[in-house]
Amino acid sequence: MFITFEGGEGTGKSTQALILAEWLKKQSINAVLTREPGGSPGAEIIRNLLVTGSVDRWSVMSEVLLMYAARADHWENTIKFALQQGSWVLCDRFADSTVAYQGYGRGVNKEFLELLYQNIVGTTKPDLTFVFDLDVKEGLKRANARMEGETIVEGRFEAMDIDFHQRIRDGFLEIAKEDSSRCVVIDANSHPEEIHQRIVKILYERGVLS
Ligand SMILES: Nc1ncnc2c1ncn2[C@@H]1O[C@H](COP(=O)(O)OP(=O)(O)OP(=O)(O)O)[C@@H](O)[C@H]1O
Ligand SMILES: [Mg+2]
Repeated sequence: MFITFEGGEGTGKSTQALILAEWLKKQSINAVLTREPGGSPGAEIIRNLLVTGSVDRWSVMSEVLLMYAARADHWENTIKFALQQGSWVLCDRFADSTVAYQGYGRGVNKEFLELLYQNIVGTTKPDLTFVFDLDVKEGLKRANARMEGETIVEGRFEAMDIDFHQRIRDGFLEIAKEDSSRCVVIDANSHPEEIHQRIVKILYERGVLS
């Protein structure tokens, strides 16, 4: 079972991925919790290049190729292996984020992104994707509040302008609409425990858990 958590900044993806991983452990289900960009030693090095530094550090194509360089390493060394072992994989951001941020956000051709996906990941798609949806300003407020407690500030994308974040939110909703059998939109504007209960309910409804 391959589940991805997608959505804009500060929408609660990491919070919910962690709560679900802990909940699955209590049900004796083996789950690997991982994230993008990153999730393998090589990809974590590339993550640092992507999420720190100035907003205009990378041209959009450099950004796409760095994202896919990281994803190739993460896929080969973490996700593919875990799925082969029969483990669940919970991935905090995956390829939909590239379509939303570099595609809808920065204008990269979607067919080109699809071609990268096919050549690097192949035909495997997540079994289920939660798309966290939240007012853009509220998400950025949450993300900025969280970063105040961090020693290394991973704020490069958060610092991009509000129109960019709005395009991303709309982009994610479009992605979810186009692939509605895979994606479930989660209204992220409620208490974390309530959102977790909704996620568990969806897993039962979809027959992922019985
Ligand atoms: N449902 C919620 N209501 C209010 N605050 C929340 C909720 N879920 C998470 N938070 C808080 O908001 C902040 C951002 O949450 P989190 O890190 O899970 O978001 P994220 O989607 O992973 O963000 P990013 O895109 O920056 O990685 C954290 O400080 C978290 O504790
Ligand atoms: Mg996060």
